[in-house]
Amino acid sequence: MCGIVGYIGHREAYPIILNGLKRLEYRGYDSAGIALFDGEDIKLSKTKGKVNDLETKIESEISTNGTLGIGHTRWATHGIPNDVNSHPHYSNSGNLVIIHNGIIENYESLKKELIKRGYSFTSDTDTEILINLIEDVKLKENVKLGKAVQIALNQVVGAYAVAVFDKDKPNEIVVAKLGSPLAIGIGDNEFFIASDATPFLEYTKNAIYLEDEEMAIIRRHKDVEIRKIKDDSLVNPYVQELQMNLEQIEKGGYDHFMLKEIFEQPSAIKDTYRGRLLSKEAIIKMAGVEDNMKRFLNAERIIFVACGTSWHAGLVAEYIFEDLVRIPVEVEYASEFRYRNPVIKENDVVIAISQSGETADTLAAIKLAKSKGAFVFGVCNVVGSSIARESDAGAYTHAGPEIGVASTKAFTTQITLLTLIALRLARAKGTISSSNYRLHLLELEMIPEKVKAALKSDNLIKKIADIYKDVPNFLYLGRGYNFPVALEGALKLKEISYIHAEGYPAAEMKHGPIALIDENMPIVVIATKKGHYDKIVSNIQEIKSRKGRIIAIVTEGDTTVKELADHVIEVPETLELLTPLLTTIPLQLLSYHIAVMLEKNVDQPRNLAKSVTVE
Ligand code: F6R
Repeated sequence: MCGIVGYIGHREAYPIILNGLKRLEYRGYDSAGIALFDGEDIKLSKTKGKVNDLETKIESEISTNGTLGIGHTRWATHGIPNDVNSHPHYSNSGNLVIIHNGIIENYESLKKELIKRGYSFTSDTDTEILINLIEDVKLKENVKLGKAVQIALNQVVGAYAVAVFDKDKPNEIVVAKLGSPLAIGIGDNEFFIASDATPFLEYTKNAIYLEDEEMAIIRRHKDVEIRKIKDDSLVNPYVQELQMNLEQIEKGGYDHFMLKEIFEQPSAIKDTYRGRLLSKEAIIKMAGVEDNMKRFLNAERIIFVACGTSWHAGLVAEYIFEDLVRIPVEVEYASEFRYRNPVIKENDVVIAISQSGETADTLAAIKLAKSKGAFVFGVCNVVGSSIARESDAGAYTHAGPEIGVASTKAFTTQITLLTLIALRLARAKGTISSSNYRLHLLELEMIPEKVKAALKSDNLIKKIADIYKDVPNFLYLGRGYNFPVALEGALKLKEISYIHAEGYPAAEMKHGPIALIDENMPIVVIATKKGHYDKIVSNIQEIKSRKGRIIAIVTEGDTTVKELADHVIEVPETLELLTPLLTTIPLQLLSYHIAVMLEKNVDQPRNLAKSVTVE
C-alpha cells in the first residue's frame, strides 16, 4: 500500500510527481504530499485527503519549481490519516526528507534509542523514525547519504520502498526496497522512481525493478548505482522494456476504471489464452507448466494460496482441478496459512494467485512453502511483481493494468488461466478424454463473445440496482462452481457500496441464514441450467415461500426460475465448469450500479487499497 513517486532530471518535477501520484492513488488515498528541491531549499506540502486536495493546497503554500522531488500517497498504517502523519517526512535537522511505503516493525526500540540521543518526533509514523535513524547514522559515522541509508536499513526489521534526498546533495536520490515494489524509469538524462511504472510511461519505456534488499543511488545526469543492502556488493542493473501503453491506464470514456475493467473482460480473457490455447491443434502451450510438468504430475496435492477476490478464484479452481485433474486440492487464505504451521510436503505444488503480485500475506505464504521444499507456481497479473519473481515458475494473466480497487477482470482472467492449466494437466495425466478436452477448448474460446452477451444486461441490471440500492443487507447464493461466485458477488457489493452482504452455498441456507429471509431481503441466486439446477430451484422455492425477493442469474431461455424470481438476468449457456466466467459479470455490474447510485467512490472505496503490502 502507499504509492511513491520521484523525479530527478532536467524537467520541472512537480507535474510529473503530481500526475504520478494520481496514477498511484489506487494504492492508498488517506493523504498525499510532495517535497521539491527548488535550487536552494526543500519545499514541502502535504495534506490529509486525496491527491486532488493536495493539488488545491500546494500551489498556495509553496513554490512548485525544481527539477528534483518526491511524492507520496498514503494508506495509513502507523498513525491516523492527518496532515502531520502524511509523507514526506523531514529529519530533525530539516536537511533530509523521505517517503516510505511499508512498515518498520522494530520502530519502538529504534525510537527509544533515538530519543535517548536527543531526537524528537512530531508524527506518529514509523517513517519519521527511519529518516532520523538515517540522519543519526550519517552524522555519527560521517558518511554520505547512500551509506547512511544502507547502515540504517540494516538495523530495520520490516518492509519498505523508500526514497530519500538531502538538501545539501541535491543531485541524488537514494532509494531502497524490501517487500514493497520500486521501479526506476531510465529516461534521457533523467530518472523516475515509482511504486509501479505507470507514473513514467509517457517519458520512458525502460525500467529497472529493484529486487528485495537492493538499494540504488540515482545521480542527476549520470547513472544508477545498485547495491545489495546487506553486503554492499554492486549489482548489474537489468533494464526491462515496458509492454504497457498509456491508453491502458486511462479511463477511455468510461465513468470509472471499474466499469472500464468490467467491459474489458472479453478482450482480457482473450489476452489470457492468446498464444496458449491453440484449438485447431487441440493444444495448450504454457512454458511455465511444460517446463515443470514432472513436478505437476508428481504432485500429491495442490494448495492454492491467495487473499480476497484471488482467493475466490482459487475456490473456483479447486472445483475445476478436482474435477478435471482428479487431484486433491486445498484453498488457503494466505494470511492463515503462513501462521498456521501447515503440513507442507516436498511434492506439494503451491499455486499462489495474486493480481498485484505484491500482497504481503501471499508473498509470505509462498516463502514458507518454498522453505519446506514445495514447488511454487505464481499466477499474477503484474509483470515483474514480487510474487512473480519469488515463485519457482508461473504464468501471467495478461489482463492489463487493473486500477479500480475492486477486482473484476483479474478474477475472470485468473479463472481462465487456471482452467487452461487444469486442462493441460488433465490431458497429460489422461484424466480427460480427447473429445471432452477439445470440447472444453472450443467452449473456452467462445467465452469472450459470451461475456460480451452477458454485458448486454447492463441496462436491466441498472434498473434492478435502482430498486434495491437502499436495502441494508443482501444474500448471495450459489452451488458448486457458482458458490465461490456468490462469495465474490457479496464481496463486490460490500467493498464498493458498503452494504452488508453475505455469500453462501445455497444448500447451507437452511442451516441458519434462512432465518434472515423476509420480504425486505434481496437474495441473489445463481441458478444456471447446468449443475445442481433442480436443487437450486428447490432453494428458490424455499426463499419464495418466506417472501424473500429473488434476483436470479439464469441461463438464456430459462422458464422455470423466471416464474419464481422477482427478476432474472440471463447469461449465455456454456459448460458448467465455465459458468463462473459468465455469472460473475451481472454481479459485478449490480454492485457497480448500486455504488454509483449511492454516490460512493467506486474506484477508491473507503479504507481499501489496491495492493495490500502490509499483513
Ligand atoms: C477485492 C480485492 C481484494 C484483492 C486482495 C488480493 O475486490 O481486490 O480482495 O483481491 O487484496 O489482492 P491480489 O490479488 O493483488 O493479491
